[in-house]
Amino acid sequence: MTAGRSCRRLEPRHYGTTIAAAEEAVMGLYGERVLPRIINAACGMKTAEPLRRRVCEGLAGDVVEIGFGSGLNIPFYPAAVTQVAAVDPAEVGWKLADKRLRATTVPVQWSGLDGQSLPFADDSFDAALSTWTLCTIPDPDAALRELRRVLKPGGTLHFIEHGLAPDEGVRRWQRRIEPVNKRVFGGCHLTRPVVDLLTTAGFTITELDVFYEKGAPKFAGADSLGVALSP
Ligand SMILES: C[S@@+](CC[C@H](N)C(=O)[O-])C[C@H]1O[C@@H](n2cnc3c(N)ncnc32)[C@H](O)[C@@H]1O
Repeated sequence: MTAGRSCRRLEPRHYGTTIAAAEEAVMGLYGERVLPRIINAACGMKTAEPLRRRVCEGLAGDVVEIGFGSGLNIPFYPAAVTQVAAVDPAEVGWKLADKRLRATTVPVQWSGLDGQSLPFADDSFDAALSTWTLCTIPDPDAALRELRRVLKPGGTLHFIEHGLAPDEGVRRWQRRIEPVNKRVFGGCHLTRPVVDLLTTAGFTITELDVFYEKGAPKFAGADSLGVALSP
């Protein structure tokens, strides 16, 4: 027996708060350590590579990438990109990007944690990149406002995002599945209206392709790929 130590029985009235605290701790660990690895595997599929190549086409100059993740776009940055400011809250993602970071000639710096509040001066960037990220950022309007602020006038946002499907039948499934999807995939929404979000933020869409992504279930693969101009 250890002198001076005793096991205190937990009062039933404390069960709720204890379970909630344990759940929060597990979810925190899942979000920080496990989820970035799941995203790295799921988003790193070969089938996404042609889409990454397309969305990165035409990027040039100083670029800010929100939702950088594990740097899966790095191999597709064109040579005309002078540097990339990577923004993402997940430290594990940055570590998973290591091999790609070492293989590229484009300087990439982990420069911020939150797309909703960018640590850059107004008119800092020639272009921005967001791939499958507006689904997850808690306040996408704030993130797009921030991109408008840090982009130079005439700067472009290159995007591919999944969101609200064009067909009502698929939308019904999206609404049903969204609560579980958000919980499992770190807040990933299925029903965000990508084009409306961009135009409401004041972007002018100059190129747009809306399609269902091959190999993905329609509810999670209703993609909008294009370029939006910040006037
Ligand atoms: C589905 S993943 C996409 C990752 C990457 N863009 C890709 O194409 O592989 C969504 C990313 O958004 C990031 N994210 C979540 N909240 C964010 C925020 N407030 N600001 C910036 N990125 C955020 C997540 O950490 C995650 O890396």
